[in-house]
Amino acid sequence: MNKIGSKGLFSGIIVSLAMIASARAQSVVIPVETKDNALVLEVGNDRVLNMVYFGGRLGNKDEYKNIGGLNNFSGTIGSYNNAYTTAGTSNLVEPAIQVTHADGNKSLDLKYVNHTVTKISDDVSLLSINLKDPVYNFEVTLNYKTYYDENVTEQWSVIKNREKKSVVLNKYASANLCLQGSEYWLKHYHGDWAQEMKPEEERLSNGIKTIDSKLGTRADLFQPPTFMLSLGKSATEESGEVMYGNLEWSGNFRLDFEVDPSNHLRLIAGINNYASDYVLKAGGDLETPKFVYTLSDKGKGEATHNFHNWARKYKIADGEGPRLTLLNNWESTYFDFNEDKLASLLKDTKKLGVDLFLLDDGWFGNKYPRNGDHAGLGDWQENKAKLPHDIGYLVKEANMNGVKFGIWVEPEMVNPKSELYEKHPDWVVKQPQRPEIYMRNQLVLDLTNPAVQDFVFGVVDGLFTKNPDLAYIKWDCNSVIFNANSAYEKNQSNFYTDYVFGLYKVLDRLRSKYPKVPMMLCSGGGGRVDYGALHYFTEYWPSDDTDPLERIFIQWENSYFYPALTSSNHVTDWGKQPIKFRVDVAMMGKLGFDIVVGKLKPNELAFCQAAVNTYKQFSEAIWHGDQYHLQDPRENDIASVIYVDQAKSSAIMFNYLVNWRVGTESNAPIRLKGLDPEKKYRVEEVNVMPGSRSTIKPSTYSGKFLMTVGVNPDVKSWRPSVLIAVKELK
Ligand code: DGJ
Repeated sequence: MNKIGSKGLFSGIIVSLAMIASARAQSVVIPVETKDNALVLEVGNDRVLNMVYFGGRLGNKDEYKNIGGLNNFSGTIGSYNNAYTTAGTSNLVEPAIQVTHADGNKSLDLKYVNHTVTKISDDVSLLSINLKDPVYNFEVTLNYKTYYDENVTEQWSVIKNREKKSVVLNKYASANLCLQGSEYWLKHYHGDWAQEMKPEEERLSNGIKTIDSKLGTRADLFQPPTFMLSLGKSATEESGEVMYGNLEWSGNFRLDFEVDPSNHLRLIAGINNYASDYVLKAGGDLETPKFVYTLSDKGKGEATHNFHNWARKYKIADGEGPRLTLLNNWESTYFDFNEDKLASLLKDTKKLGVDLFLLDDGWFGNKYPRNGDHAGLGDWQENKAKLPHDIGYLVKEANMNGVKFGIWVEPEMVNPKSELYEKHPDWVVKQPQRPEIYMRNQLVLDLTNPAVQDFVFGVVDGLFTKNPDLAYIKWDCNSVIFNANSAYEKNQSNFYTDYVFGLYKVLDRLRSKYPKVPMMLCSGGGGRVDYGALHYFTEYWPSDDTDPLERIFIQWENSYFYPALTSSNHVTDWGKQPIKFRVDVAMMGKLGFDIVVGKLKPNELAFCQAAVNTYKQFSEAIWHGDQYHLQDPRENDIASVIYVDQAKSSAIMFNYLVNWRVGTESNAPIRLKGLDPEKKYRVEEVNVMPGSRSTIKPSTYSGKFLMTVGVNPDVKSWRPSVLIAVKELK
């Protein structure tokens, strides 16, 4: 069975169906409840499973049966609200599943058979609904895994071919929802390298709006599988009904939003079926990736907290753990380094006060040394000229300097100028009769091939086996897939999908052997972040664009969906802002540096050292607390964000000038959020440059005052970034 890491799902207790399904007339009503929400499914007289509601939870389960009859979900051509719309029979709207049976027939009809609920923990339950075609031996199980306290649901399907021969899945979505609102406002994202996460919000009109990716390895160089959807008016931070969604899939995805003739919104989320008719063998199952979503009727702020809480607790690798601050050498050396240079960088790491030194690209390759981006990828042996000793020596040196050591890899990729390419041309994704097409002079390895999976696993496993003290991996991925074709696959149209399954197989193996080791998911920018990948990675690289002004915008949008501890933010020399501004912005996430420490002026170095300490003092709030978006950089001259720890005793507020026109400054207080109104807090500016004085007098206020009246951070063109610490007075 093709599946992605769902071990132990069915280990809970099967509860009685009667407890959750109330029979009325000839229908079965199945509510899928979380603390505040309910999604209601109903089996009609024709035994077709429909979705009739997604909204606030009712106190009395018995009342859900009254909802279906209050809506008209159908028109001249049939009904629009199937819970998993089939093709080729009674449905003429966009399908969630489309099949070519073993005999070539293209019709599918799925009827309800039964359902079970498995209680996995007090918080987590799994509803599985079995559907079957009355004519063909073809079955589908729809799964709804709910996280009750977090108001989050993960939905996916398992498609089962019980026919005698292979069938072809022409479309195989994870989820098919039917939503109700007077209007639908979709906020989605687009971009390119160094311009990731540019938002766009639009009112959906009749017809289908599709957000998708066809890039193969990197779902979202152009558009991520992430969106927010307001039902009714466009939601604000604190008001409006809004759904957040993310497809947990690191390859080609497709999200269809269809306003149907009855003004309901049909949402279909899943793997992109572009060039991906999936051949499923007789007896085979295909488990689709999870589509995760939350709904809030209190605006974006609550939806953000739902996603963050769920992700840290259940999805992100070591989501509740700490993170390591670091010094990276990419922008200070690029490919030009040797052991002496690295020895001095290890000292700088210690001097700066961060936890780890991260050795970037360029440490490998001998026949084809990696002295630039045109050669060496694939040959993961230390370059003898640069590193006459080995990585183990550097790890030891780092430890002797009192810091940890991490390393960069890009194990899915190969340069044509490499020994790997010479030895295994058949491992490379390419069209045999066509010229090769490169992105950054490289090609992608064929992860559908188990031998390649072993190789990629071996690259990382080998590093850890040889160097057990290695403390961090930066996993890069700098190419999309051109010329999609596999020398291994029998069915080329399985390739895109099997590539991602292959990647997840490798990551599953690595995570079961190294469950806690921090790994950054990099991709030359935010080209890969999604909750499928974050299951394996502790953090991601939002963009190669580290200009702090740009980063305020990129990090802002990502932070609606992903908690700050996953956002790797490095201080670099990009942008015109002073070092304080750059460090302040990088502190809104997982702080790192990628600068020449030796070039810092003494007061800049002193500032950075103090900032690392301040960061450590507030890391609990930033990593594991609640984030509130106070002032949107796209709507205000001053952008403002606060992180409040779970105990509501420590918080840190970040304020930035984002409009540099003459005379823009903070003229009014900004209201804080998330504090305890009854507590007293000491408020003072932190991260002040040595030699400068804060214009803010340290003062004590009640939480009520801070959340009702607020604080004026006194941002001005000569103080363009201001950090305010808020500490409970005990
Ligand atoms: C792209 C990454 O985004 C950079 O940080 C760096 O690791 C380079 N790749 C190395 O080739």
